[in-house]
Amino acid sequence: MPEFEVTPWEVKGKVDYDKLIQEFGTKRITPELKEEIRKLAGELHVLLRRDVFFSHRDLDLVLQDHKAGKGFFLYTGRGPSRGMHIGHLIPFIFTKWLQDVFKVNVYIEVTDDEKFLQKAGYTLEETREWAKDNILDIAAVGFDPDRTFIFLDTEYIRNMYPLAVKVAKKLTFNEVRATFGFNESTNIGLLFYPALQIVPTMFEKRRCLIPAGIDQDPYWRLQRDIAESLGYYKTAAIHSKFFPPLSGVEGKMSSSLPEYTIYLTDEPKTVRTKIMKYAFSGGQPTIELHRKYGGNPDIDVSFQYLYMFFEPDDQKIKKIEEEYRSGKLLTGELKEILIEKLNEFLETHRQRREEAKSLVDKYMYDGELAREMWRKIHE
Ligand code: TYM
Repeated sequence: MPEFEVTPWEVKGKVDYDKLIQEFGTKRITPELKEEIRKLAGELHVLLRRDVFFSHRDLDLVLQDHKAGKGFFLYTGRGPSRGMHIGHLIPFIFTKWLQDVFKVNVYIEVTDDEKFLQKAGYTLEETREWAKDNILDIAAVGFDPDRTFIFLDTEYIRNMYPLAVKVAKKLTFNEVRATFGFNESTNIGLLFYPALQIVPTMFEKRRCLIPAGIDQDPYWRLQRDIAESLGYYKTAAIHSKFFPPLSGVEGKMSSSLPEYTIYLTDEPKTVRTKIMKYAFSGGQPTIELHRKYGGNPDIDVSFQYLYMFFEPDDQKIKKIEEEYRSGKLLTGELKEILIEKLNEFLETHRQRREEAKSLVDKYMYDGELAREMWRKIHE
C-alpha cells in the first residue's frame, strides 16, 4: 500500500508534497522565483508566502513572456457539487490576485458534465443546478468582468467541440487509462472528458497558466504531451496543497466528509460547533500538561488553517505559533481565533455573493471577454 495517493477524484493519507513533486515531475517554487514574482507584483500573496502554492510547471517561462510583452492568460475550473467549501475557493482567490497583478484574461470552466459522469448517483439536472449555485460563489471572488469568462461545459460545448476532437484524436486509450487509472468498466464519457478539460488551455495562442490544486496535474501532463503538435503552448501550472479536513492533516477537505468540512454557507454557530467539536488539536490532553509541554502546531488543524490563509499577518501568525508551542496559548483559545477569522471571512463572502448576482451574466455572456468568446461560434 502506498502511504498516500493523489488523484483528481481522491486524496488519501498524509501527502508528502516533496515526494509528489518528484512523482509528478513538477518543480518546487524556489525563493528566487518568489522574489521575482514579488518584484513584478509589488508584494507576495499569503498563499505564496506560506507555500500553499508550492509547485509549478513553466512558471518561469510565464514570467519571461510577461516581461517580454507577449502576455499570458489564466485558466481554472470547478466540478460543481452541492455547496462549495473553503478549500474550493482557494484557487479562485489566488487566480483573482494574479489577474489583478498581471491584468490578464481568466477562463473558468464549470464541468457539469464531468461531475455527472464521475458520480454514480448524480443526475445531469442536479449538476447543472449546482453549477448555477457554485458560479455565484466564484463570481463573489470579484474577477474583472471584462477580462473573465465563466462557462458551463454542456452549454459552451459547441465552441469547444472542434478543438476537443483535435485533442481527443491525439490521446490514446492507453495513455488516458494509465493517467487516470481507468478500467474496462469506466464509462466512455469519462474517457473523452480529459479532452474537454484540456481545450481551455488552447483558448489563446499564448501561454496558459493554471492555478489549481495539484490533484488536477494529470490533465496538464497529457496536455503538455500534445499541445505543440496542435500549434499551442505547453500549459504552465501553479499547484497548491490541500486544505485538510477538520479531522486531521491527512487527505483533503472534501464534500464527501460533511462534518469535517467548512462550507461557504455554514452559519457562525455551525462553524463554532464544527471547530470546537471536530478540529483536530495538537494540544495536550490537560491544561497542566499543555502549559508544561506546549502544543504541536504542525498537526493542529486550527493552526494550519490560520497559517495557510486565515491569518495573513506574518507577525501575528509567528506569535500564535510561538505561544502555542510554548504552552501559553491553549487549544480552546487557538480555536477561538480561528472561529472569529472564519466567520468574518464567510460573512464577507456571503455579502459579496449577494452582490455578485448581477455580475454573473457579465462573466458568462455580456462582458467583453464573454462576448468575444461567444462570437467565435460564427468564425
Ligand atoms: P474541483 O471542483 O474538484 O475542485 C476545484 C478546485 O479546488 C481545488 N481543491 C482544493 N484546494 C485546496 N484544498 C482542498 N481541500 C481542495 N479541494 C479541491 C481543486 O484542486 C481545484 O483546483 N476537474 C476539476 C474542474 C476543472 C478544473 C479545470 C480545475 C476543470 N478545468 C482547470 C482546475 C483547473 C474539478 O472537479 O475541480
